[in-house]
Amino acid sequence: MFGVAMFICNCRGLNEQKVKEAACTGVKKWQDIHSYYGTEPSCGKCSEEIRQIISEQKDVQVGKNLFARLSQCDWIRNGILKSK
Ligand code: FES
Repeated sequence: MFGVAMFICNCRGLNEQKVKEAACTGVKKWQDIHSYYGTEPSCGKCSEEIRQIISEQKDVQVGKNLFARLSQCDWIRNGILKSK
């Protein structure tokens, strides 16, 4: 359905937008997406899809402050996501 974010992690209720938002902060491991939201992975079925999303933002540099990292995020720059 158009306009509805697809769930990536059914165990923890993380949809595509949430995963992309966390990926924009420069996380490097799929488990870090869960940590960003204060959860831990359960079954791990989401790992490959989360890794794919992280790899799409692999150029985000971890050492910069959060604003600088978010400004590097293609999804935010292109208006697909809005930064917090
Ligand atoms: S689907 Fe993500 S931990 Fe199960």
